[in-house]
Amino acid sequence: MADLGFDGKVAIVTGGGGGLGREHALEFARRGARVVVNDLGGAVDGTGGSVSAAQAVVQEIEALGGEAVANGDSVASIAGGEAIVQSAIDAFGQVDIVVNNAGILRDKSFHNMTDEQITSVIDVHLKGALYVTLPAWKLFREQNSGVVINTSSNSGLLGNFGQANYGAAKMGLVGFTRVLAAEGAKRGIRANAIAPVALTRMTEDLLGSMAEQLEPKRITPLVMYLAHESCPANGQVYSAAGGTIAKFFVGLTQGTSRGGEITAETVRDDWDEINNEDGYIVPQNPAEEFAKLLSNWGVG
Ligand code: NAI
Repeated sequence: MADLGFDGKVAIVTGGGGGLGREHALEFARRGARVVVNDLGGAVDGTGGSVSAAQAVVQEIEALGGEAVANGDSVASIAGGEAIVQSAIDAFGQVDIVVNNAGILRDKSFHNMTDEQITSVIDVHLKGALYVTLPAWKLFREQNSGVVINTSSNSGLLGNFGQANYGAAKMGLVGFTRVLAAEGAKRGIRANAIAPVALTRMTEDLLGSMAEQLEPKRITPLVMYLAHESCPANGQVYSAAGGTIAKFFVGLTQGTSRGGEITAETVRDDWDEINNEDGYIVPQNPAEEFAKLLSNWGVG
């Protein structure tokens, strides 16, 4: 089968000045896409900033013979999102792919968390993804095509100590992804999310003996396939770590269904059955959950 190429496509990679985003940006360019490399260029906690991180990646892309422009706006405001998308329009006249990857960490156990730590992390990860995607989405609707890839995390999907702000934002991105998938499906627009594990400056103190396996460039092939027009996935979340790729999904147990009285005591009595994962289903949208309810009630 032919290689997966991106000739004629324009990709925006937020936080593309380092870590995972840099690998995605370089690989898009190697495969023929023109790339907007966005990066605020701050520290891992989001402080400071300079466009030079993005510019350095643009130079790497140009050295490979690719085409790219740098953008130093923050994703964390509606104006920043618009400016990032506008830089794609100004340089290349179009946008086809948005990879929301920019991120910061402000870890703290929840009882010590400040408003600033909550707000800054949600602004960059969650609101930032909405802000960058929104102007691109309007273009996608006009052109009846487009791809969004959001960067979630097992910290949200599974929960990780000390990351209430980050985990909430990352799980929020899953909801965002699924709604985009539902809204875009009829127009050929797709949205998916990844939950990566990789050795970057963000994780260098956390991964211990696993670190060697976890090169950031081993996440990028999943992003390339999700971004490619031949990929059928929509509204899904994929785990990627050191060459292992798998799918996360939301399952619903068969549970119990009481036709008669339901009380706190019947819930207690049914608890094992409610939690029994045998025969779970994986609804793809609320209608599929409702279909199960109707069938439980004998109306389906
Ligand atoms: P990184 O710190 O190397 O990359 C994040 C990039 O985002 C940095 O270059 C930073 O300057 C940029 N950035 C931060 N705030 C920004 C803003 N407001 N506007 C534009 N750019 C901004 O870290 P890494 O690991 O490459 O992270 C990339 C994404 O992957 C993040 O969303 C992170 O949460 C996510 N992730 C990473 C994991 C890992 O194991 N490395 C695990 C799960 C998720």
